[in-house]
Amino acid sequence: MKILGIDVGGSGIKGSVIETETGALTSERLRLASPRPATPEAVGVTIQALVEQHHWSGPIGIGFPAAIQHGIARTAANIDPSFIGLPVADYFSGQTGCPVYIANDADVAGLAEIRFGAGREVAGVVLIVTIGTGLGTALFSDGRLLPNTELGHILLDNGQEAEHYASEAVRDAQNLKWTDWGDRLNRYLLAMEKLFWPDLIVLGGGASKKLSKFVARITVQAPVIPAQFLNQAGMIGAALFAEERLRAGN
Ligand code: BGC
Repeated sequence: MKILGIDVGGSGIKGSVIETETGALTSERLRLASPRPATPEAVGVTIQALVEQHHWSGPIGIGFPAAIQHGIARTAANIDPSFIGLPVADYFSGQTGCPVYIANDADVAGLAEIRFGAGREVAGVVLIVTIGTGLGTALFSDGRLLPNTELGHILLDNGQEAEHYASEAVRDAQNLKWTDWGDRLNRYLLAMEKLFWPDLIVLGGGASKKLSKFVARITVQAPVIPAQFLNQAGMIGAALFAEERLRAGN
């Protein structure tokens, strides 16, 4: 099945038509800058522009940077607070005229990695951490997702919120060396390990391409590997999520 997969991020909104059988991108990946402020109206206009640029009129899957409970946004750490309580799936369906299925961005990136990528056929507990404007998490047990874990917001032992300490945005803003930032990420991963004892940790987002620059600082017991789809996992997984919902008839 072909589905338009869209990944709504803090700095960019990306889209590509995905073949859900294989996870392959079957159209050019297009990226538009995220609007500021990222209000529902402005994000919807940008999504609509991506739909038009793809000449698309079928189902759309969206990975969105918030906890999404049955199509409704519950949090808004890096998007406009007016999203909270909004039935985002219905809202974007109305704006685009296409059926829209929406889930948390890290959860859908995790779906792509578990189905086709770094977590494929891995038994046990897999934690996926997406590193970008925020810190997103997806937690799987034997391939099944526990949605909306939001573990980037835990307080670390230094009293700081994890995503305000170890995200890509913080590394960038504070111009941290990879090794220094690696120590920060390690502090976060150690906290995750102490709580969840994952069998595998998969890192996604831009920083996952640079793993060799900071891997020496990572001391967790679990193997830590980069996401296979790097920062395309969101678009691919968004399409997989939509396909799952379509097949389930909801
Ligand atoms: C949000 C999560 C999201 C993560 C990555 C966090 O600030 O609360 O929902 O998955 O950023 O975008």
